[in-house]
Amino acid sequence: MESYTFVVVGGGIAGVSCVEMLCHLRPDSRVLMITASQLVKAVANVSQLTQILCSFDVEEQNYGEFSGKFPNLTVVQDTVLDILPESHQIRTDKGLTFHYEKLCLCHGARPRLLSDNEFVLGIRDTESVQVFQNKLKEASRVVIVGNGGIATELVHELKGVDVIWVIKDETISATFVDPGAGQFFLDSLQEGQTGGAPEVCKRMKYSSRDLAPNSSTCKGSALGPDWHRNIQTLGAKVESTARNVMVEFKSEVKRVLTRTEFQGCGLKESDKWQSARDWSVYIELDNGTVLGSDFVVSATGVTPNGDLISGHLFEQTPDLGIKVDDNFRTNVLDVFAAGDVCTTTWTNAPHWFQMRLWTQARQMGLHVGQCMNASLENRLQTLDFSFEMFTHVTKFFGYKVVLLGLFNGQTLNNEYEILLRITKGQEYVKTILKDGRMHGAILIGETDLEETFENLILNQMDLSSYGEDLLDPSVDIEDYFD
Ligand SMILES: Cc1cc2nc3c(=O)[nH]c(=O)nc-3n(C[C@H](O)[C@H](O)[C@H](O)COP(=O)(O)OP(=O)(O)OC[C@H]3O[C@@H](n4cnc5c(N)ncnc54)[C@H](O)[C@@H]3O)c2cc1C
Ligand SMILES: *[C@@H]1O[C@H](CO)[C@@H](O)[C@H](O)[C@H]1NC(C)=O
Ligand SMILES: *[C@@H]1O[C@H](CO)[C@@H](O)[C@H](O)[C@H]1NC(C)=O
Ligand SMILES: *[C@@H]1O[C@H](CO)[C@@H](O)[C@H](O)[C@H]1NC(C)=O
Ligand SMILES: *[C@@H]1O[C@H](CO)[C@@H](O)[C@H](O)[C@H]1NC(C)=O
Ligand SMILES: *[C@@H]1O[C@H](CO)[C@@H](O)[C@H](O)[C@H]1NC(C)=O
Repeated sequence: MESYTFVVVGGGIAGVSCVEMLCHLRPDSRVLMITASQLVKAVANVSQLTQILCSFDVEEQNYGEFSGKFPNLTVVQDTVLDILPESHQIRTDKGLTFHYEKLCLCHGARPRLLSDNEFVLGIRDTESVQVFQNKLKEASRVVIVGNGGIATELVHELKGVDVIWVIKDETISATFVDPGAGQFFLDSLQEGQTGGAPEVCKRMKYSSRDLAPNSSTCKGSALGPDWHRNIQTLGAKVESTARNVMVEFKSEVKRVLTRTEFQGCGLKESDKWQSARDWSVYIELDNGTVLGSDFVVSATGVTPNGDLISGHLFEQTPDLGIKVDDNFRTNVLDVFAAGDVCTTTWTNAPHWFQMRLWTQARQMGLHVGQCMNASLENRLQTLDFSFEMFTHVTKFFGYKVVLLGLFNGQTLNNEYEILLRITKGQEYVKTILKDGRMHGAILIGETDLEETFENLILNQMDLSSYGEDLLDPSVDIEDYFD
């Protein structure tokens, strides 16, 4: 049996970042990565935009290529079946057993599917994207369910096919943005490029109570700036590249029917969606609307894989996340967890919360590597700066989107003010203020405000005296706070 100082399970961003940190801190120790997939996800083009905010590209590499990066790293393609915690061993599908001193579980999450109907697709990894692409070639109508980042990206990218977007909220992209920003995107979706002179609508002020839908939840399916870049997203109706997106607001899917089930159950397609042809799959919405489609993309979030490897050993949250403390330790001795599979249980810094995104998979992976290194000497590692404040940068509908702190007023119990500046088709700036202090912000477009706002959220400076000047476009806010 082979023995390793560190064993890391999973070749996603979290696992790869953890391995890189371990190989960097302890180049003389033996590190093993076991990954079920051929491809591992490496981070490229890291660009530090502010102290915390960081953008990067994700690149898929063959596992062999990755193992060549560090001399004392071994990468094995195999599926881990279970853990024997007393003897510090793991067993794999190919019948191998490995011994570890410290083990880190980074085996991710799986898409939460609406149904196991073969025409319902969840998009997760390269393989599922390929399935999606093949089906799309033949498609003339696609239903997309979900209101997070993946759904948003898909809707933006699909062309030459009718898209029906079913969302449970009153506004689009509610997982990440508020109704105002949703409207900002919806305008660009419907009008294509907005023409005419940009009209600045500045310094609008709201109290949170004026905004009807209440965004207390922030579960979030994952979002993707670039994952679709190399994917052919033209459907069968190639002669038309116009966007044809229809949104069914405030609707949830009640059931998914195969064609045979549909024909046998006496339902009819709603007038609005009636067509002369048969579809491969039919859905019924909770308000009674029925429609058929070539396929349905289920983009309704992920479930952590906490149950998949010796699930009975681990304390988990109801959604199957493995609970970890601030050193990313699970309840099992010498077993750590990071990335989508874990759920953090420490008391969050006031402007940080967990969201299953690349950004956090990387931050957690790097941090858990330090924690594992420290634990070899029975030391604890303090949480690093990236857990002080939530940050994420992505692209929606072609716009740069920066999310900072409590960007949707999370945890503020609806007691906050919103200061907005919108330039149609150009930028959308929203800040969340409470007691004169900034707690979060959404920046869409090239606003150049991320650094200043990050500082204002971190240092909790009293901004009451600036009032609405804070967002006055004629005031150079950077100079203000230098
Ligand atoms: C379509 C899509 C697009 C996304 N785009 C973005 C984006 O643009 N930006 C963003 O911030 N977030 C995005 N996300 C979310 C992001 O992908 C996740 O938050 C992040 O990848 C989690 O990384 P991870 O390393 O924890 O897990 P994963 O990336 O899920 O990796 C899990 C790894 O574990 C391996 N594994 C699983 N089980 C076993 C086992 N039993 N034995 C061995 N290995 C195993 C898998 O093969 C895989 O290598 C997207 C998600 C989806 C579904
Ligand atoms: C790899 O590990 C061996 C044994 O611990 C050590 O002698 C060697 O220097 C390491 N290689 C590198 C590049 O650090
Ligand atoms: C990194 O950036 C370069 C230059 O913009 C680009 O060509 C390359 O594709 C990027 N790498 C990844 C993995 O996206
Ligand atoms: C927000 O939603 C939560 C949960 O749905 C509810 O308990 C709360 O009363 C709502 N708050 C407001 C101001 O509507
Ligand atoms: C269901 O809701 C949608 C979207 O709000 C609406 O267009 C449709 O007419 C409703 N259908 C029924 C049967 O009420
Ligand atoms: C990692 O371990 C090495 C070797 O024991 C030690 O010198 C170093 O300080 C550790 N690094 C961290 C960040 O804990």
